[in-house]
Amino acid sequence: MSACADAIERRFGDGGPSGDGAAENEFIHRVLSRKTVRRYSDVVPAEGLLDLLVAAALSSSAKSDFQQASILRVTDPVQRAAIGKLFPSMPWIGLSPVFFVFLGDARRLQRVGQLRGKPVSNGTLEGFFNASIDAALAMQTMILSAESVGLGVCPISVIRNEVDKVAALLGLPDLVFPVAGLCLGYPQSEGYVSLRLPRRVTTHCDRYDDSALPEAIDDYDRRRDALHAIPREQQRSNAEFGDAAFYGWSEDKARQAAKAEGAAFPPYLRSHGFNFD
Ligand SMILES: Cc1cc2nc3c(=O)[nH]c(=O)nc-3n(C[C@H](O)[C@H](O)[C@H](O)COP(=O)(O)O)c2cc1C
Repeated sequence: MSACADAIERRFGDGGPSGDGAAENEFIHRVLSRKTVRRYSDVVPAEGLLDLLVAAALSSSAKSDFQQASILRVTDPVQRAAIGKLFPSMPWIGLSPVFFVFLGDARRLQRVGQLRGKPVSNGTLEGFFNASIDAALAMQTMILSAESVGLGVCPISVIRNEVDKVAALLGLPDLVFPVAGLCLGYPQSEGYVSLRLPRRVTTHCDRYDDSALPEAIDDYDRRRDALHAIPREQQRSNAEFGDAAFYGWSEDKARQAAKAEGAAFPPYLRSHGFNFD
């Protein structure tokens, strides 16, 4: 079995396509084997390397070449601690050697319009969506670039749950909003590749078809549980939902999604320049 086929098997374990016949590719192998890292050694990555990662991130594709991603690095220890304190259940936010925030920046294009005397109104749904995608692509490019040099990362969208406080700490103006933070450093431990949903439910050919979803999810839950069972103490909301006879990925995600997150985000955006028209 090729290294990539082996990595595909570890990632999906679904008996699906193996990349048979494709040339081995080191970059793709790394992507197939990637994993989120939340604990880091104390070694701080060199400034030159961080410059490279930022440059790589800002080389991502950008909708209409509008270039609506901005990257903010939080270096001030007081500010780091203040952000970390908002999320005590995720200590890596305050502790990672490096912390970036990826911003959707709909403001810059509006300012460009003002500079050129053109009426740009970029608080629309389209403006918000484009800026979000640009920021997400920039973050993912930094993630893969960082992982390619042995760094580990963890995206942090929980900062949007306290968007008012985070935005005030970072001095964000109207039309600029956090998409996610990114913890970055050298991994302290090995971690593991997280099993993904079987490709027969996440890929489609010619027509969308999710008729096989129930059986596929059951099968995925069992296979994932056999590899990395969710410990009993990590089960969510047992008081509300009761003890599950079998607590797999789908039970966990259904319970998580049943408690809507992010209530602070829409009012924040509406009061900071977005009308979503
Ligand atoms: C947009 C985005 C936001 C995320 N936010 C958080 C977060 O706030 N806290 C956290 O610990 N992990 C966060 N994660 C990491 C995911 O939990 C992780 O990617 C997922 O469990 C899959 O694991 P893997 O990346 O190792 O395959 C986030 C990931 C993404 C893509």
